[in-house]
Amino acid sequence: MKKSIDEHAARFSDHAADYDESQDSPEYRACADLVVGHADPAAGDVVLDVGTGTGAIAFGVAADAARVLGRDISEGMLERAGEKATERGVENVEFGEGRFRDPQVPEDTAVDVVTSNFAMHHLSDDEKRDAIEAVAGLEPRRIVLGDVMFFGEPNPEDPFYSPEVDDPATVGILADAFTDAGYALTAVEMVSEQVGVLVAEPRD
Ligand SMILES: C[S@@+](CC[C@H](N)C(=O)[O-])C[C@H]1O[C@@H](n2cnc3c(N)ncnc32)[C@H](O)[C@@H]1O
Repeated sequence: MKKSIDEHAARFSDHAADYDESQDSPEYRACADLVVGHADPAAGDVVLDVGTGTGAIAFGVAADAARVLGRDISEGMLERAGEKATERGVENVEFGEGRFRDPQVPEDTAVDVVTSNFAMHHLSDDEKRDAIEAVAGLEPRRIVLGDVMFFGEPNPEDPFYSPEVDDPATVGILADAFTDAGYALTAVEMVSEQVGVLVAEPRD
């Protein structure tokens, strides 16, 4: 059985201190760089980064955006992200509790761009559909999803897919979920057979 949201939160909190050092593979770097590049916020934009972890994407877009909301379920990861913001003197990133289906966006805040990197694959496919619907409901002009996703046959021998903790979707299932939420894919980047970046924009 896959893990519950609380189990994922605890698992990531346990690894928060050494998380950044563990993310040094070329695939991880390539995926994160593509997410930041496609997010491409304008100077006045608010970016919501869901599953922000220690803030790799949030910090990556902060210099170009007005404000970044980094949301996560893991207290330990959020604590480390906050420490990094202080160490780096970054003042326009706000880290706090929030999840895909309830990202805790302040009521008076319009979100322009939503990003997420290596986080959604922890959800079941039905939950991913709900998550995509929820972030699409914020009406951003772009959603950038970098994640473990299957371009071909799943292979647990390849990096980034451990069936006991991960539940990636096929690219087709994700594309359908975006379509059903009123968004169309404007870019599909294949980093490897099991890692990709999808960019979605409103169909109208
Ligand atoms: C592999 S880390 C990725 C962190 C960061 N985005 C990066 O690129 O380094 C996955 C993160 O997603 C968070 N996460 C898992 N399920 C989530 C959910 N339903 N809502 C929000 N965050 C979630 C975990 O707590 C963890 O911090």
